[in-house]
Amino acid sequence: MARIELHNLRKTYGSVVAVKDINLTIEDGEFVVLVGPSGCGKTTTLRMIAGFEDPTAGEIRIDGRVVNDLEPRDRGLGMVFQSHALFPHKTVAQNIEFGLRMKKVPAPERQARVRAVAEMVRITHLLDKMPGQCSGGESQRVALARTLVTNPSTFLLDEPLSSLDAKLRRELRAECDRLHEELKRTFIYVTHDQEEAMTLADRIVVMRQGEIEQIGSPLDIYSRPASYFVADFFGSPSMNLVAGEVVHEDGGVRFRSKKLSVDLTARYAHVPPGKATLGIRPEHVGVGFDGTGANVLPARLIEPLGKDTLIYFDDGTERAFVAVTEGLGKAALKVGTPVSLAFDPRHIYLFGSDGRRIDPK
Ligand SMILES: Nc1ncnc2c1ncn2[C@@H]1O[C@H](COP(=O)(O)OP(=O)(O)O)[C@@H](O)[C@H]1O
Ligand SMILES: [Mg+2]
Repeated sequence: MARIELHNLRKTYGSVVAVKDINLTIEDGEFVVLVGPSGCGKTTTLRMIAGFEDPTAGEIRIDGRVVNDLEPRDRGLGMVFQSHALFPHKTVAQNIEFGLRMKKVPAPERQARVRAVAEMVRITHLLDKMPGQCSGGESQRVALARTLVTNPSTFLLDEPLSSLDAKLRRELRAECDRLHEELKRTFIYVTHDQEEAMTLADRIVVMRQGEIEQIGSPLDIYSRPASYFVADFFGSPSMNLVAGEVVHEDGGVRFRSKKLSVDLTARYAHVPPGKATLGIRPEHVGVGFDGTGANVLPARLIEPLGKDTLIYFDDGTERAFVAVTEGLGKAALKVGTPVSLAFDPRHIYLFGSDGRRIDPK
């Protein structure tokens, strides 16, 4: 059992506010991912939960009990460190067993538990090897086993896969998922990788400059981003975000930017005139090749990816505008080909000049 609550949690280093009065409740058994760009306070938050950093203000509670003054080892949590934190002169088995030795667990029990977790993360064949003989992925499994063996109520993981290549990352991501299913423990996972957050989390906590920007399920975050920042952070390629303004004309409401003009009357008639950002995901941009319609732009760059093709446009703003079409695109599609872009009102987002998303009606 571990329900973890953060109440107005704050950490400052001199004049740097690393974590700014955050409030968060992580339910027992939940897989929560803290995600955000480098420097937004993820590691500091995790280290305060683990007990390696003292909060400047605020409270941390585990199952209702304030643990601010509790030593890390007395919190019942398990931090998974980067694989390079393995002891180089101990075997894999000795590395895994280390925490149990510290707790004076008798040898026969130690061995049984090491065996059990080694099986769980599929490294039984590595137990007698030295860390130097293990690959990056294998070392990360050892690091995971070393935490697993202490049977923590909660796993704290700080970018555990960031040093691995893409294929191994996917493999170990699946492993984390499986462990969570099997163990039914609480997981708090820190990453700057939006894809990792989307695939692993029950709930995503998006952090920005020491604050929580949005909390929600992956679907929530993807389909109802609270702000420009969140919209921009999730999705690959990321959402098109076009700077422009909302205008009222001819009894309707339109969005206009340098090169685009989009009818907003269907869902955004309530939005007053003024500066705004229009958002639409690349997969939702309609693409036609007859060269007609209100928004025709020449293709500027074409990237066939096999299953899909990305088409880039210059929409007159600083960001490239991207559309995704299925397959390898029309054979006739070349750089300079005029492409008709369609904006389905159901998939249009609008952000105010304060960066917050405006709800449609
Ligand atoms: N020990 C420290 N001393 C001074 N500043 C720190 C220290 N640890 C972190 N910071 C600062 O706090 C902010 C948040 O850091 P961190 O929690 O490591 O971010 P993240 O893990 O999201 O990349 C950063 O501006 C970082 O420079
Ligand atoms: Mg960090």
